[in-house]
This record gives sequence, structure tokens and C-alpha cells, in this order.
Amino acid sequence: VTTQPRKVVILCGPPGSGKGTQAPKIVDALGIPQLSTGDMLREAVARSTEVGLKAREVMAAGQLVSDDIVVRIIRDRVKADDCKKGFILDGFPRTVAQAGALDAMLQETSESVGLVVELQVPDVVLVERICGRWIHKASGRSYHTKFNPPKSYNGTSAPSAENMRDDETGEALTQRADDTKEALPKRLEGYHSETEPVLSHYRARGKCRVELVNANQAMEDVWKDMQKVLA
Ligand code: AP5
Repeated sequence: VTTQPRKVVILCGPPGSGKGTQAPKIVDALGIPQLSTGDMLREAVARSTEVGLKAREVMAAGQLVSDDIVVRIIRDRVKADDCKKGFILDGFPRTVAQAGALDAMLQETSESVGLVVELQVPDVVLVERICGRWIHKASGRSYHTKFNPPKSYNGTSAPSAENMRDDETGEALTQRADDTKEALPKRLEGYHSETEPVLSHYRARGKCRVELVNANQAMEDVWKDMQKVLA
């Protein structure tokens, strides 16, 4: 019996570039799950697991969690049944060492990364996006006070847990511990120094497509451009 190689898509981009906003649409379009290392780590922090206790401070400061930890998380996660047809990696690999570990992991089953998409947004735009973001923890739905407000928010009063409610459940939205003006420069610096070289890593191998999408435009237009590179 020959099995089809899995579709492996890497979605990368700086903090606030829209990975979490676009990923659910890609999930629907390709029928494969989104694996977000950020979401998995935040869940571990919330449950105070061994990994969560190690990651909590590092994440709040806007720094990267160790390669060992995230590689182990992904190695386990891609074995799950829902990854049989493939998966979208959101926020992984974030270092060249993680990319090497991913390549080796896929090589074991004669597979490889098929597509890398980078969402491009200038750093100056990201501060407003990050500081206005509110999330619904249970579903991961992401809102923005200005660009994507929930129905409960009138756009003028100060945003709070009272007036920022999830559209579907009505539950209170929250802000992330690392969505601060203090942590953002660290996160951006980490992206430029550690994660951008991952794109060169895949370009140099010449084995997979590396596509750039302009994410400094309305969400619907980002999605239109995204569909072109997924085709
Ligand atoms: P992670 O959760 O991956 O966060 P991130 O990469 O910093 O990205 P964000 O989730 O902040 O942004 P996003 O691109 O998803 O933007 P969103 O769509 O929400 O990682 C968090 C931390 O975990 C890391 O700092 C690190 O510590 C650790 N970690 C995770 N993975 C790791 C790894 N592999 N190795 C080591 N450590 C790891 O959009 C942002 C806002 O803008 C939203 O409010 C949205 O509504 C709005 N918005 C989106 N698109 C648009 C648009 N086109 N126009 C206007 N507004 C928009």
C-alpha cells in the first residue's frame, strides 16, 4: 500500500503579522490542522505543566523557549491522527536548529516541507496590532479593538473584560501576557535574528517553495493573496 506524503506547510511572520488570523482559513481550505506552538505553550502555562513552568517567564519576556522543548512538542503532535493528511505549522520552526530538527523528523518517513509562506508587515505597524489584540482563550479567536472589534465593543470606551466579549460564546476576552510595548521589541528582534534565517534555510535547499505575502493590507486582501500562493 502506498501512502501519500503529507502536506507540510510552514506559516511564518513576525508577531502580529496575522498568522493566527489567516491560519483558520487555511485549515478550511486545505483540510489539515493548524499546529501553533504558541497556543500549545500557552496551554501548558495555563495548566502549569512542567513545560509550562519552564516557559512562563521566557514567553512573558518575549524570548524564545528552548529548541528542545518545542521540537519535542511538535514531534509528539504530528503523530496524532488528525495529521495524517498533513499540517500547517504556525510559529514553528523559529530557529534554523528547529528547521533542521523538523527536516530530520520528516526525513524519517521520506517526507519534507512543501511550502513556506511568510506574512510580511513592517515593524512599525505591528505595535498597534499587538497592543489592540484581545483573544478568546478557549477557541483562540483573535479580535482587535480597531481592526476587528467584537460585536460587544462600541469602539469608543476603554476596552475591558466587560465590553470585550467573544462573538460566539459571549465569554470575556483577555490580553496575552507578552502583548506589551516592553516585550514586543524583544519578540521582533528574535524574529529578525533567529527566524528570518529559516527562510534562507529553505530557499537554499531549493526543495520547497518559499512565498512572501503582503500582510500589510486588509485581512480579506491578505487572504486573497494567500489563496494564490496556496493554489
Ligand atoms: P506565538 O503565539 O507564535 O506568537 P507570535 O509569533 O509572536 O505571533 P502572534 O500570535 O503574536 O501574532 P499573529 O501573527 O498570530 O497575529 P494575529 O493573527 O493574532 O508565540 C508566542 C511566544 O511563544 C513566543 O514569543 C515564544 O516565547 C514562544 N514560542 C512559540 N513558538 C515557539 C518556537 N517555535 N520556538 C521557541 N519559542 C516559541 O494578529 C494580531 C492582531 O492584529 C489581531 O488583533 C488581529 O485581529 C489583527 N490583525 C491581523 N491581521 C490584520 C490585518 N491584515 N489588518 C489589521 N489587523 C490585523
